[in-house]
Amino acid sequence: MIDKINPYDVVKTQIDIVAKEIGLDPNVTEYLKRIERALIVSIPIKMDNGSLQIFEGYRVHHSTVRGPGKGGMRYSPHVYLDEVKALATWMTWKTSLLNLPLGGAKGGVRVDPRELSKKELERLTRRYTAEIINVIGPDIDIPAPDVNTNAQIMAWMMDTYSMQKGRSIPGVVTGKPIEIGGSVGRQAATGTGLFFVLQALCEKLDLDLKHLKIVIQGFGNVGFTIADLLNKHGCKVIAVSDVSTGIYYENGLDIEKLAAWTKQGKYLKDFKDDNYTLISNDELLTSKCDVLIPAAIENQITRVNADKIASKIVLEGANGPTTPDADKILFKKGIHVVPDILANSGGVCVSYFEYIQDINSYFWKLDRINEELKRIIIEAFEETFKISKERKISLRTAAYVIAVSRIAKAIELRGIFP
Ligand SMILES: NC(=O)c1ccc[n+]([C@@H]2O[C@H](COP(=O)([O-])OP(=O)(O)OC[C@H]3O[C@@H](n4cnc5c(N)ncnc54)[C@H](O)[C@@H]3O)[C@@H](O)[C@H]2O)c1
Repeated sequence: MIDKINPYDVVKTQIDIVAKEIGLDPNVTEYLKRIERALIVSIPIKMDNGSLQIFEGYRVHHSTVRGPGKGGMRYSPHVYLDEVKALATWMTWKTSLLNLPLGGAKGGVRVDPRELSKKELERLTRRYTAEIINVIGPDIDIPAPDVNTNAQIMAWMMDTYSMQKGRSIPGVVTGKPIEIGGSVGRQAATGTGLFFVLQALCEKLDLDLKHLKIVIQGFGNVGFTIADLLNKHGCKVIAVSDVSTGIYYENGLDIEKLAAWTKQGKYLKDFKDDNYTLISNDELLTSKCDVLIPAAIENQITRVNADKIASKIVLEGANGPTTPDADKILFKKGIHVVPDILANSGGVCVSYFEYIQDINSYFWKLDRINEELKRIIIEAFEETFKISKERKISLRTAAYVIAVSRIAKAIELRGIFP
């Protein structure tokens, strides 16, 4: 968008940075830059008008060295293999940072779901699931929702997988509807985790959460949830955006009204309020605020705009929103960047809870979900913060020190087969 960057190159640069920091064995460094496997599938779909359209889909396992693959499913007209490889690798670091017994995986289908009818979307999801059936499963790789996918899509994936196996297997995906083995708190988990981490960082920086001005890029599952939570805690959310536009009001936007609008499938650019100003996504990212929360897609803060970022904190709701060049600039400017693998890890954490609830056929109450989520994410935050202070490195490099060291140790203990 702002700067054309391959996210898989970003991944490799990030690995080099942490490898240097911890003196990682060059062989292991090279190993971590590779994915375990990638499956590319063609998905032929009979459209409602009788024509045949063929979509391309991917499922990538970056690492299963610490447990089954885990990662979302993205539907987007722009998704491509290197992007999915990058997203799968970030999942490996995320599950490792939280010390969950899982690896990293990701999937995608190159499609704009808004252009499909509900029936076409269902056929696409079911055929895609059938095509990747041999590389997913509760002890192989467990998909979950991501950009443009949701609980209904997970329900179709779970049903297709179960029908092929001849029995109900809810643990094959997470982020399902609660009625068929989903977990309470999963839908809001990523936003809730962001909130816990921001609260903890504000305590360290002596900032009063209630008085913060917030800017959020992306107003989907993650963007809306964190906007809603912060709004309810007295913060002013002064700008949000979707793919169509940014929308700004310095006295604070009415989050509930905006959510009621976008939940009908409408774009923010068509929302009418005389007090609100439409701004571009670039203007939104460089708006003056206390906390900037990118919660849309990769490569939004790059060397092109990093110098103009005017917030005290960048809290990464999205995966990979900041490039390594931009990281250096933000670090020099003294901006606290809470990295994606920590900030947005609430989603995978509660996905893990959903998975173990499915396996045990025993379901928890929301209080227990949020309590355990807070404990795990805050432990990871405290460890990351401590290492960043001790080594005088960014929070991202500190989080990578923990995550990559754990993977390297697992590789050393398991050895290289054969
Ligand atoms: N859903 C989860 O549990 C979860 C967990 C961890 C990380 N994430 C990450 O958070 C981000 C958002 O995911 P989501 O689940 O909220 O998706 P979503 O589809 O619910 O929402 C995405 C939002 O981003 C906007 N958007 C899309 N493309 C854009 C662009 N080019 N420019 C500006 N805005 C754009 C969309 O209009 C929408 O408002 C992704 O990076 C995803 O990988 C999601």
